[in-house]
Amino acid sequence: MLIVAGSKKNMFKFDFSTSKDEHEKESGKLEIEWLPAQEINPNLVRTNSLIESLEEKDIKRFQSGELEIKYMSTDYAVNRLVFYDEENIILNTEHSHSDLLPGKYEGGLKIWEGTQDLANYLNKEYSSLKDKSVLDLGCGAGILGILACFKNANVVFQDYNSSVINLYTIINVFLNDFNDPEKFAYKFFSGDWESFTTLRENFKKFDMILTSETIYNVDNYEKLHSVFEKTLSENGIIFLAAKSYYFGVGGGTRQFEEFLKKKNIFISEVVWKFTGGVNREILKIFLFEISTTPN
Ligand SMILES: C[S@@+](CC[C@H](N)C(=O)[O-])C[C@H]1O[C@@H](n2cnc3c(N)ncnc32)[C@H](O)[C@@H]1O
Repeated sequence: MLIVAGSKKNMFKFDFSTSKDEHEKESGKLEIEWLPAQEINPNLVRTNSLIESLEEKDIKRFQSGELEIKYMSTDYAVNRLVFYDEENIILNTEHSHSDLLPGKYEGGLKIWEGTQDLANYLNKEYSSLKDKSVLDLGCGAGILGILACFKNANVVFQDYNSSVINLYTIINVFLNDFNDPEKFAYKFFSGDWESFTTLRENFKKFDMILTSETIYNVDNYEKLHSVFEKTLSENGIIFLAAKSYYFGVGGGTRQFEEFLKKKNIFISEVVWKFTGGVNREILKIFLFEISTTPN
């Protein structure tokens, strides 16, 4: 069964290839074993040697206003994974022209449209994030976190797959000259949001959580909400960029707003939207109490 969602440029293709999986999924029984969260320390030798092996054609440039962020091309990243992705999960998923395989590979090796939208929005709204503690949740290439680094924030990058963090996010962070882990206040984590919450809930809370294209799977709303609830500071703000509706999978901004309403902890407002095709939005989400406190 192949389910496709999204715009032509960034399609979500959920490919549950075996009939057993298909049967289990349809009867709602497919048990996904989510990977546990762990902190990843950059491997300096590997990172620097990977960067040295890059040719100019392998380095792309993400533009938002005046700001230019370098990143490794997806093709190069996918091909490097042959050497590190032991079960070839990501490689097989990418080569079978799927973007995601739930619980195994969650699509971090591409830059999704929401990242461009949110980068442009943040660039306009925030000239500095000095000393703010920022989480780039489901970071993939890490563009939003790198943008926050450029604005002098302390950044935590989180992605599901450790290979994505090691071979893509960290490379991109270093490519932009944030290449000294002693000097720059950043950290990297891989693994599922549920165990990430457990790992981080007793640490200093985030002033800002940035998350782009992470609400396609309705089954993950509970744990996404839990990250928000347990790791955001009292006055913190979440910016979530996503499509209004992910065709074929059911998630989207309206559905997520409904979920937030039911939980009754955060409120949200649409602060930006694009309506000329597959609709996209940015939600600003914050604690209910702040919004009801009189000025
Ligand atoms: C479609 S990609 C978007 C990547 C990036 N934010 C962008 O806009 O280019 C979704 C991201 O969410 C993360 N993700 C999805 N489900 C997750 C889960 N259950 N636990 C941890 N991360 C998850 C994946 O790591 C993946 O990078």
